[in-house]
Amino acid sequence: MRIVVLVSGTGSNLQAVIDAAKAGDLDLEIAAVGADREGTYGIERSEEAGLETFVVNFNSFATRAEWDAALADRVASYAPDVVVSSGFMRIVSADFIERFGGRYVNTHPALLPAFPGAHGVRDALAYGVKVTGCTVHWADAGVDTGPIIAQEAVAVEPDDDEESLHERIKIVERRLLVDVLRRLAAGELAPPATV
Ligand code: GRF
Repeated sequence: MRIVVLVSGTGSNLQAVIDAAKAGDLDLEIAAVGADREGTYGIERSEEAGLETFVVNFNSFATRAEWDAALADRVASYAPDVVVSSGFMRIVSADFIERFGGRYVNTHPALLPAFPGAHGVRDALAYGVKVTGCTVHWADAGVDTGPIIAQEAVAVEPDDDEESLHERIKIVERRLLVDVLRRLAAGELAPPATV
């Protein structure tokens, strides 16, 4: 299985995938890692790991549609079986997702459909939930919507702040993402039926 991973930030979920693939626990090839902006640690890690990288900078395009089409073209050039949005903080279009047969996986640091959006951890904490967690799902063109593949709960501790809670969620999130990719690569998980 060939994947392209999209990142916007530190790429620690991506690092878990790189490590698992290197250790032989994950039968996949990371064809390339892409970002929506310059200077991300995710891209730096990828270069250190000897991976192909690219940036399709959101701010270099006049419209979202032009950026989306350019990103889709670039991703398609690597002919991935699955595209992974791993801490990628942009929504892509329905056309983008259809181009890859709906095989667009996203991770989110909350138990969807609760607390979608860019601040899933902060919003869960502000609401006062005692349990949150993370979700790996087939993304559609909505904000953190689409069929759920895997979820795991994480308890909120009384003294948690956003950072401490997010760190604990990310430990689980990395394991969940690697496990989903392993199941996908092994043919144990079917891609979404309809796109
Ligand atoms: C993850 O929790 C992801 O779900 C969220 O931001 C975090 C990114 O972490 N959207 P990293 O870039 O993989 O370290």
